[in-house]
Amino acid sequence: MIVAGVMSGTAADGIDVALVQVSGRGFRMKFELLAHEHFPYSAMLRRTVLAMTNAEGARVADLARLNVLLGEHYGEAVCESQRRNNLKVELVGCHGQTLFHQGEPAMYLGRKLAATWQTGEGAFVAARTGAPTVSDFRPADMAAGGKGAPLVPFLDYLVYRNPKIGRIVQNIGGIANLSAIPAKASDSQVIAFDTGPGNMVIDAVTERMAGYPIDRDGKLAASGKVLEPVLEELLRMPFFRQQPPKTTGREQFGREFLAHFLWLCKNAKAEDCIATATALTARTIAEAIRDHVLPRGDFHEVILSGGGAKNPTLMRMLKAELPDLCLRHSEEFGLPAAAKEAVGFALLAYQTWHRLPSNMPSATGAQRPAILGKISYP
Ligand SMILES: Nc1ncnc2c1ncn2[C@@H]1O[C@H](COP(=O)(O)OP(=O)(O)O)[C@@H](O)[C@H]1O
Ligand SMILES: [Mg+2]
Repeated sequence: MIVAGVMSGTAADGIDVALVQVSGRGFRMKFELLAHEHFPYSAMLRRTVLAMTNAEGARVADLARLNVLLGEHYGEAVCESQRRNNLKVELVGCHGQTLFHQGEPAMYLGRKLAATWQTGEGAFVAARTGAPTVSDFRPADMAAGGKGAPLVPFLDYLVYRNPKIGRIVQNIGGIANLSAIPAKASDSQVIAFDTGPGNMVIDAVTERMAGYPIDRDGKLAASGKVLEPVLEELLRMPFFRQQPPKTTGREQFGREFLAHFLWLCKNAKAEDCIATATALTARTIAEAIRDHVLPRGDFHEVILSGGGAKNPTLMRMLKAELPDLCLRHSEEFGLPAAAKEAVGFALLAYQTWHRLPSNMPSATGAQRPAILGKISYP
């Protein structure tokens, strides 16, 4: 079956489409990445998405419209990917754009609950592409008692498990998350959680202090110096002390965090602020690995993916933090850094289409395996 995976992450940089040939089932699944395409959001769409994520005030009418608008964009992105590669997909897995994610249950109107919301209407994706579309993957895991994230460990376990080598698979998207797969691990032995900010804080600080949407190739960070007292203060946040499994998002590392960060930086130079934001990502990834992963087994490799793997300054800082681990890139395993998550959602959709579960309870904390997502028909 040829399946399109469509991912637009919390970095809100745009849409990744992976066209994947899939066969087999569960952890005996085989797949081949046929093509990967990236469609950047326009500056206006990115601003709108960022404004509506975890918004204190957003109009219901606008949220309803954004749901349809994104559905159209996702559908068009799949159609354009098909055209460019002369392929036709039979199924689409579309993650959608996260507006809100609270993995940890909290009291609401007298009841303790967790909640998540991904927008981008599957019915429009199905109509535009002519292919059944699985969307809204996370709620089924939450209904089974899980945190709804991370879901990529299914792919990580499939691709990176190894009889001899313990591997840590680290994705650096808007948020950074890892899957740690001990040598010879069964799927229930995979440790997975969010380590904290990935590119989200770097992007926000770069935008605010230097006026660019991203610190391309880590150039600005490379020319600044890390403000150690600011870093020390930020590392005191309770999230970093929390035991896994744990998830996070713009709720914790969005607008308010940025204001606090910049306040701590006082009148420092833009480059120093950006270097500090970059060091925050490197340090929190390294500490998560040292505190929560290495004590639980022998691990030799860290395999990097996500947009953050393209930031050489971040990679250099990470290597300095983890001198004893071998840092590798997901490219070496045939998965381009930016395509990996999109491939993941193609595989999850394929499982769902066959009425099979794809959450990993050890990663999400769910009480049972769950079939993820909702299917829209063309
Ligand atoms: N060449 C690059 N140099 C520095 N940062 C980059 C580069 N390419 C991508 N990035 C970073 O990666 C981010 C996108 O990462 P991505 O994995 O798509 O995140 P998400 O899955 O949350 O959308 C961008 O916002 C940017 O911060
Ligand atoms: Mg992205």
